[in-house]
This record gives sequence, C-alpha cells and structure tokens, in this order.
Amino acid sequence: MQHISSTLAVPDSTYVPRHVAIIMDGNGRWATQRHLPRVAGHSRGLDAVRAVVEASAARGVQFLTLFAFSSENWRRPADEVSFLMRLFMTALRREVVKMHANSIRLRVVGDLGRFSPRIQQLIKDAEARTAGNTGMTVTIAANYGGRWDLLQAMRKMLARSPMLDPESIDESVLAPHLAMSYAPEPDLFIRTGGEQRISNFLLWQLAYSELYFTDVFWPDFDAAELDKAFASYRQRERRFGRTSAQLVAPGLSGTA
Ligand code: IPE
Ligand code: IPE
Ligand code: MG
Repeated sequence: MQHISSTLAVPDSTYVPRHVAIIMDGNGRWATQRHLPRVAGHSRGLDAVRAVVEASAARGVQFLTLFAFSSENWRRPADEVSFLMRLFMTALRREVVKMHANSIRLRVVGDLGRFSPRIQQLIKDAEARTAGNTGMTVTIAANYGGRWDLLQAMRKMLARSPMLDPESIDESVLAPHLAMSYAPEPDLFIRTGGEQRISNFLLWQLAYSELYFTDVFWPDFDAAELDKAFASYRQRERRFGRTSAQLVAPGLSGTA
C-alpha cells in the first residue's frame, strides 16, 4: 500500500500518533553517571525497549521505529561494537518470541550486509516468523543511515528502469524504494539523551514529523515518559504548510 506523502497531500492527524520513530540515546551517559561501564547502559536500554514496545502497542501506535545502530556507530571502540552485536543477537533470539506472542510484526532496516551471517540469518528468521502478524509493526534501524537509504533507493530505482527520463522522477517514483516504504511517515519523532539532532536518521521521512526532545536517558525512558511525549504531540498544530485559520475551517479557504 502506498502511503500519503506529507508534501503531496495533507495526511490525517490522529489522537495517537500512528508512527513513532525514536532515537534511543544516552545509554552510555546513563551508565557513566552510575560508575558503570558504558555497555551496562546498553543492556538496560534493552529493558526500556521492551517497556516502550509494550506501552506503544497498548496505546494503539501502529508503527514503532527504533534507531538501534547507525551507519556511523562502527566508529566506536571495537569492544563496544561487539557488545552491541551480541546484544542485538540476544534480542533477536529472546524478544522476538515475546513480540510474536503479542502479534507484533518485526522489520529490520539498514545496510544489513555488514552484519555477521548469523545475525543476518536471525533477522531473516524473525521477519519471516512475524510477517503474518497484524498488530503493531516494530522496525529496528540497524546499520541504518538516512543518506544510505536515499542512495540505495536511487540505485534500485535506476536498476529497475536504467533509461529513466530525469523529468519523470517524482516522489512516487523514488519513495517506493526507500527502506521503510511499508510505513507512513513518522507523526512523532522522539530523541532521548538531551541532544537535539537527527544524526542521519530518517532524513526523507521526517519532513513533517513533530520533533520531541527529552533529557531523559534512554534506559530511564518508560511508559510515563512516552505519555509525556504524546501529550506534547497533542498540543502541536500540524499545519503542513497551511495557516491556522485553514485548520479551523478547512473547507473555507485554499485547497488540500
Ligand atoms: C545510544 O546510546 C545507543 C547507541 C548509539 C547504540 P549511546 O551509546 O549513544 O549513549 P551516549 O550518547 O554515549 O550517552
Ligand atoms: C544516534 O545516537 C544513533 C542511535 C541512537 C542508534 P548517537 O549517540 O550515535 O548520535 P551522535 O553521535 O551523538 O550524533
Ligand atoms: Mg549517543
């Protein structure tokens, strides 16, 4: 199914955001504050993932996207990277069973070729196992980068039609090749850990997302913190380029 593009038409705004995308940041600082090794923060971060998946599903979110490892995170010390890989494997083995029991569909997006064959196999198995589920879709962005996504989409687009007339390229030609074409654009973007940046997350899809930043470190983010983000979201006026007056009386002025 092709989803509405926020730049081509005005999407509906719902009380509960349909798609929530989260940069789970601050694990290392959470641990350092407690005089623990950084990786202890990553372990606790997985507990927070569990809590937020559960709370999101309970609130009626349809798509939850979690940035787990960026294309730039390979720059970290080798022992931290290998810890994260092991944690990813553990999560794929253990958490997927629970997600499947809760009818959650799991997807993993990113340049997966850089992961070990074992991880790649676990990802395939998890996606296949949960493919028929009809509950919330949880997407894990792993070795993901927004620029990578745009480039791989362009490559796929050209591979399909090498003689493509440049003038014929519009959103509807490119967007189906983006890694998350199965989901609507995020309504709400959340970043924990205090930094106010996108860090190469969903560059195309965040065009009209509401942005929410909190100082809370990811391991401390829970259902109550999610509710604060949702409360902030409900205060926003999503204009998508229009004026406030048009939102009050949509039929009276302008076009869609
Ligand atoms: C986010 O927490 C997790 C990953 C990037 C894998 P960080 O590890 O970036 O934590 P801080 O930002 O150093 O505190
Ligand atoms: C962004 O966090 C990526 C993930 C949470 C997976 P980083 O901690 O890597 O981002 P920067 O380096 O502070 O921008
Ligand atoms: Mg960080």
